[in-house]
Amino acid sequence: MERVLVTGGCGFIGSHIVDKLIEKGYEVGVVDNLSTGKLENITDKNVSFYDCDIVTHELQDVVADFDPAFIIHQAAQASVPVSINDILLDADVNIRGSINLIDAARKNNVEKIVFASSAAVYGEPKYLPIDENHPINPQSPYGLSKHTIEQYLKMANHLYDIDYTILRYSNVYGPRQDAKGEGGVVAIFADKLSRGENPIIYGDGKQTRDFVYVEDVAVANVAALHSGSKKVLNISCSTKITIKELLNKMTDLAETDIEAIYEKEREGDIRSSILENAETIKQLQWAPKTSIQLGLEQLMGKVLIQS
Ligand SMILES: NC(=O)c1ccc[n+]([C@@H]2O[C@H](COP(=O)([O-])OP(=O)(O)OC[C@H]3O[C@@H](n4cnc5c(N)ncnc54)[C@H](O)[C@@H]3O)[C@@H](O)[C@H]2O)c1
Repeated sequence: MERVLVTGGCGFIGSHIVDKLIEKGYEVGVVDNLSTGKLENITDKNVSFYDCDIVTHELQDVVADFDPAFIIHQAAQASVPVSINDILLDADVNIRGSINLIDAARKNNVEKIVFASSAAVYGEPKYLPIDENHPINPQSPYGLSKHTIEQYLKMANHLYDIDYTILRYSNVYGPRQDAKGEGGVVAIFADKLSRGENPIIYGDGKQTRDFVYVEDVAVANVAALHSGSKKVLNISCSTKITIKELLNKMTDLAETDIEAIYEKEREGDIRSSILENAETIKQLQWAPKTSIQLGLEQLMGKVLIQS
């Protein structure tokens, strides 16, 4: 049985990756410092859990102890606003922590690292849909830290022969996404609707986003263990929806007529974003299976039952 270490495996996306790996019969280890993740997101008793900060030296011992063939690296300071307000924290976790992980991978003969990057590396779109050759122009320390690690992984491949696949996610949504702090818009709207409160839309609501369901992202990560060698790939549905349409779908599903409150557009918000996924479909033999309608139905079903 192949061993896969998932960093950030107690988080929103990481925990779904853990579920898929278990389903496929992998032996799974999780490294997480529980800063935003939750231990209860890991339900399988066979998962080896290491309570460890990826920035610390202890990570070296964890990788040596679990001895994985593969690492799926999700652990991160994942908030754009936090990265702007605390540039050092962002660099510490996302750059230094990731380099620490690459170093541990090298010392323990890890075959491959699959890395969670982001559409944030592209910055303001020059054309749509954004393909993987789109210019890189991050507008936040977060986007820059993700791109920096992409470069380190390419270098680590040259120097130490560690294989990699870089996955640049669009907006991910689904169960276990935290609405607190800087959660994604879908989680925030779902939380508001479940409490009977008015969701806030910044700007006119006509800005578009490309949402991808978390389970599809998890499947792509597992596929990347054995395909997509040395590739940089967008993970998205390649479909766009306005924020207003999104909220309408969610209020329909919640069977409520709660209306949005409109507030001033937020500085730095990108007007439209859509990521091309044709290369990913080819390289990973993967396709996003969950339409936004189906994904929202699955999510809202869970949210409304819980509340
Ligand atoms: N959610 C999205 O829409 C989205 C989009 C693009 C990229 N990403 C990337 O996907 C990955 C997962 O994001 P998510 O939305 O699941 O976020 P999340 O916050 O739910 O998950 C991150 C996990 O990493 C852990 N972690 C954070 N700092 C750590 C540290 N120093 N040491 C060990 N563990 C640490 C957290 O406790 C958490 O469990 C991140 O790398 C993020 O940048 C997410």
